[in-house]
Amino acid sequence: MSALRILVFLGSTREGRHGENVAKYVVNVLKNKKHNVELIDPLTLGSDGHVYQPLQFRRDLNEAPEWMLETNSKIKNANALIIVTPEYNCALPPALTSMMDQFPPASYKHRPCAIVCYSMGPFGGIRAASFARPFLSELGLVSVPKVCVVPEVQGKFNDEGQCLDDRVKANMEKLVDEIQWYGSAISNKIKADGVPS
Ligand SMILES: Cc1cc2nc3c(=O)[nH]c(=O)nc-3n(C[C@H](O)[C@H](O)[C@H](O)COP(=O)(O)O)c2cc1C
Repeated sequence: MSALRILVFLGSTREGRHGENVAKYVVNVLKNKKHNVELIDPLTLGSDGHVYQPLQFRRDLNEAPEWMLETNSKIKNANALIIVTPEYNCALPPALTSMMDQFPPASYKHRPCAIVCYSMGPFGGIRAASFARPFLSELGLVSVPKVCVVPEVQGKFNDEGQCLDDRVKANMEKLVDEIQWYGSAISNKIKADGVPS
């Protein structure tokens, strides 16, 4: 399996967020498999995670901030994406949608995306995952079947990005197997035949 360019989008900006260690773990797993991985963190992105004006709504792209153009290129060049999302009020957190809404669907389309969801409760943010599917689809992403669900996230990850729970580790391996499969299948297809108009 050749190395893929994978972006990991973190959907939390909250002080003391659990998502940071979950995302670190996801990045570590992918790096151990020799992929080129980058974390897209709304806190360091440039707009503090807030959608002031999406790139595609800007009249003059020369006036778009450099970080926005750079991130847009990274999205266009990625072979696959993973979102790491908590559940906020039975829905997707605004940090995730606000961050991803800043870039045009044309930049995301024809790429696979896997969902890692978590919460402090027993259901692991699964309701956020079900909202994520139509959201990702609207961006033109293909969400892969496997979801890695992390209930009671507190205490399951350390600050070094290690996971302390065997069930989550096993599920993450399955999710990574899938995103690798879809990522290389789709990028080979794009290389061979381009994309539909
Ligand atoms: C605004 C808000 C809404 C929340 N709503 C839910 C919810 O609907 N279901 C749930 O299981 N947990 C909910 N929680 C608890 C989160 O699962 C928990 O705080 C988790 O750590 C959030 O991720 P974060 O720490 O990365 O921000 C909510 C937390 C916040 C801050």
